[in-house]
Amino acid sequence: MIRRWSAAVVAGLLAAVTVTACGGGDDGAGSGSDDGKITLGFSQVGAESGWRTANTKSIQDSAKEAGIDLKFSDAQQKQENQIKAIRSFIQQKVDIIAFSPVVESGWDTVLKEAKDANIPVILTDRAVDSPDTSLYKTFIGSDFVEEGKKAGDWLVKEYASATDPVNIVELQGTTGSAPANDRKKGFGDVIAAEPKFKVVASQTGDFTRAKGKEVMEAFLKSNPDIDVLYAHNDDMGLGAIEAIEGAGKKPGTDIKIITVDAVRDGMQALADGKINFIVECSPLLGPQLMELVKKVNAGETVEPRVITKETTFTQEQAKAVLPERQY
Ligand code: AHR
Repeated sequence: MIRRWSAAVVAGLLAAVTVTACGGGDDGAGSGSDDGKITLGFSQVGAESGWRTANTKSIQDSAKEAGIDLKFSDAQQKQENQIKAIRSFIQQKVDIIAFSPVVESGWDTVLKEAKDANIPVILTDRAVDSPDTSLYKTFIGSDFVEEGKKAGDWLVKEYASATDPVNIVELQGTTGSAPANDRKKGFGDVIAAEPKFKVVASQTGDFTRAKGKEVMEAFLKSNPDIDVLYAHNDDMGLGAIEAIEGAGKKPGTDIKIITVDAVRDGMQALADGKINFIVECSPLLGPQLMELVKKVNAGETVEPRVITKETTFTQEQAKAVLPERQY
């Protein structure tokens, strides 16, 4: 009995020590941990795609390199898990919270809780639609509308001389997420200028390969004349390639394919002629994020929006860069 009681006391003391060591003193933001390190709580979307895996690695590697104590949490594509993780970071009194919001809406309450606890928040990769921008310090990530526009621009050029209708199917990312909303908008705005472009089906594939395949199979059954597939990420495009091949068609030839990301598997399919064009979205946000974390922790002013530099790839360009591709 006494032994059990002592074990409980020791466990309680240890827990108290852990919270202190991770979160620093009671004075909130910028206080640092007892070992002098900044503590960063990071809530990741999940592990839905090759892009996400590369993004997680970039954040973990960069935190280590920058000497930042990283508390990493995987939300498995669920907003409620991210809210729980953020609340737990607040309880642990981390110095900074960063997160990649799975969807755009519904963050105001938890962000206010972080602000009231005097813990600065940095958004990475995906934005929130909160009108109160004082709830976060900065947002680092891609311009997803621009990515959609680049996809549309390529299509317009590719079909410049076509007079017949061009039937397009679209595999959208996670419903309600910033990249799904913005990539759809950017692409839609460009192709709207030419009535020959017709989006005959558009549905979410949740950014995963399995869902991309499943939805493409359904598209192929209900639309016999698909000319183009626009997939909001490589993984859904790669799943769709399996569906197209399964239906006895040649991806990249019978159906032209445009995707976003440019992860290694996508680039390989592009080099192999199964994808026609990829718009790059860089997952390597770690080093810039750690710089921002240090600045925010030191109380320095940071830009409200830090945009990642990105390019596009044709099949020839993919062949040239593939050997050196990092992810
Ligand atoms: O938010 C970035 C997007 O999320 C990537 O394009 C996609 O692959 C990922 O799941």
